[in-house]
Amino acid sequence: MTKKTLTFGLLILFVINTLHASEGMWLPILLKKYNIEEMQQKGFKLSAEDIYDINNASLKDAVVGFVRLSSPFHHFCSGEVISPEGLVLTNHHCGYGAIQSHSSIEHDYLTDGFWAMSKEEELANENIGVCFLRRMEDVTNEVLNKIPENATKEIRDSIINAQIEKIETEATDGNELSAKVKPFFSGNEYYLSVYEIFRDLRLVGAPPSAIGKFGGDTDNWMWPRHTGDFSMFRIYANKENKPADYSEENVPYKAKRFLEIAIDGVEKNDFTMVLGYPGTTEEYLPSFAVKLKTEVENPAKIKIRTKTLELMKSDMDADAEVRIKYAAKAAGIANGWKKWIGENKGLKRLDALTTKQELELEFTKWVNQSDDRKIEYGHVLANYEELYKKLEPHQLALNYIYETLFSTELLKFSRKLQALTDITKGANDEKNQETLNKLISNTKGFYKDYNLETDKKIFSALVTFYYTDIDKSLHPKSFQLIDKKFKGSIDAFVDYIYSKSMLPYPEKMQAFLEAYSYRKMKKFTNDPMVKLYYETINIYASSIYPPYKQYHSEINELHRIYVKGLLEFQKDKVLFPDANSTFRIAYGTIDDYEPRDGVSYFHQTYLSGIIEKDNPEIYDYRVPEKLKELFTNKDFGSYGTDKKTMPVCFTASNHTTGGNSGSPILNENGQLIGINFDRNWEGTMSDVMYDPDMCRNITLDIRYVLFIVDKFAGAKHLVDEMTLVNAKQKRQLP
Ligand code: ARG
Ligand code: GLU
Repeated sequence: MTKKTLTFGLLILFVINTLHASEGMWLPILLKKYNIEEMQQKGFKLSAEDIYDINNASLKDAVVGFVRLSSPFHHFCSGEVISPEGLVLTNHHCGYGAIQSHSSIEHDYLTDGFWAMSKEEELANENIGVCFLRRMEDVTNEVLNKIPENATKEIRDSIINAQIEKIETEATDGNELSAKVKPFFSGNEYYLSVYEIFRDLRLVGAPPSAIGKFGGDTDNWMWPRHTGDFSMFRIYANKENKPADYSEENVPYKAKRFLEIAIDGVEKNDFTMVLGYPGTTEEYLPSFAVKLKTEVENPAKIKIRTKTLELMKSDMDADAEVRIKYAAKAAGIANGWKKWIGENKGLKRLDALTTKQELELEFTKWVNQSDDRKIEYGHVLANYEELYKKLEPHQLALNYIYETLFSTELLKFSRKLQALTDITKGANDEKNQETLNKLISNTKGFYKDYNLETDKKIFSALVTFYYTDIDKSLHPKSFQLIDKKFKGSIDAFVDYIYSKSMLPYPEKMQAFLEAYSYRKMKKFTNDPMVKLYYETINIYASSIYPPYKQYHSEINELHRIYVKGLLEFQKDKVLFPDANSTFRIAYGTIDDYEPRDGVSYFHQTYLSGIIEKDNPEIYDYRVPEKLKELFTNKDFGSYGTDKKTMPVCFTASNHTTGGNSGSPILNENGQLIGINFDRNWEGTMSDVMYDPDMCRNITLDIRYVLFIVDKFAGAKHLVDEMTLVNAKQKRQLP
């Protein structure tokens, strides 16, 4: 409890006991059972069926998951449909890859923004699409009830896999839907999700980075925030309104349901709810895992990324071309880096380790109360302790190989080029040519964002980390050159690889690929960079992954039992399953917070705050002239508050995580009031432990989005597609 609430402590004790905090990411099909009453007490005016209904269009039909078509059940972001013609809103950082891929020095959409002034100007994208959840179902019984008692793990797994396959096949038989069964509560429950995945998604608009990424990585994960983090896409479908590959014949998707947009703003304590696809949380970890994460894994990853970022940033600051090439790469690296730093601080502040240990103590007491429980759960905590101890060096080596060698640009590129070894003898074979053409085009894409000097410095730093911190038995074979040929000089080793390999050189590589036939395979596999890649893969596959996998699968098995025990032990509480990239609902209220002693944050920021931050010297804080003009003239259209101020972002207490980016934030009537895009730094530990006083999600106020589209970009035609309402006065605006 904060100091403020202490004053009213006694008065509100009753309320707190009957209402839960805002913790939790809930399943749409269980809202009616567990949540709807509490939601309505908090102010929600609609029913559970208004959110999820398979017979009628409901709010879930206006929410999308963004996917790469190559991995359609992992949602890297969320989004919402806001017009009858399939217009979709998401974050700028979710559309970043697409915006960047259409950008060049001549058309720098990252810097200048992009607005399609007609549908013809909308830009097609490769490999990304959106899915709609059409149906969800509890299939726990079907998946688990064929498992005989005392089945071995192998038998258990094989029955589960067979049942899952059967359920997925049945769900997609005779239709064009996609189905996925995933485990929940560590495999104690299973749910089927059936999706319709649209594959033709076009870029409609994005503000300049000076708006969409305002504050950049300096403000990332922080409040107060002023980032206009949005971009717009449109879903295209075939003439039957069904998913189709990109085609000029495709037409805008006729939305089953789209969101109304409420433009009368938010006040503290207003009800809010978030729909979308949170990726991963780990709320039920034992103390041993929390210790490993906070004391070993996070510090190692933070150390490595700090160095990479330092090197990247100094080259980006020195050269505009490098900045464009490395912008998305740096943002990706910085995002995780800063989150881990915040997470560690938050878990320390909460003393998460002690909290977990106390829970485990209580759990043990409960277990010891009955012989049956002792048999089922008595071994769990001791086994955890032993397994985590054994896992530690392997977990660290795994983190290292991913964060260092596998993170170097040229080893990643080698992985793509591996397809060359598929090219067979028949020289004119069509399939060979197809493989080659694809590689040639991928290669062009790769070099478009490549800078040799920057890459080489980072490569050298990452090799140094691995070489110095990881046991020699886990070094790739080429590292022997460092010891023998180069007398311990990593620089000499790096110089050698970069002078002998063709991968750092676009022209050499292009020429090599264009003249490629299976006879050249040796030249490829003997390239020192490619050799290092294969050696790294070998070490990983032979000595790093197997022990890691072994301990993890033992831990997972234990986790299933532990979570089962926790569910029983805490059966008077309704627990939510960890996020796993399935559709969830979180709800809470508009709320402020006190980040530290003596400091209190307000829940809303305004355009005036952007003007305060303006600093032409600092890249992250350059405010576009046009925005300054609009501010000076108070030219906010009908989107400002009392025509005097322009709201930008707000905070609320919804429990969200990575993947919730782009999620709609809805008011009590299910109308759109903002787009989720971040969490506060003090609350990033919510993936492991939620703190109602400190955890806030950060939302882009929808009024700022409309203002930018209409007043800044002059793309009023897009606002005209939407339905704006004044929720508090309950009328539709003209
Ligand atoms: N922290 C947000 C998220 O996890 C935003 C990331 C993108 N923004 C950035 N400045 N890197 O995805
Ligand atoms: N920015 C995150 C995302 O991309 C959302 C912030 C969070 O992790 O809560 O999904």
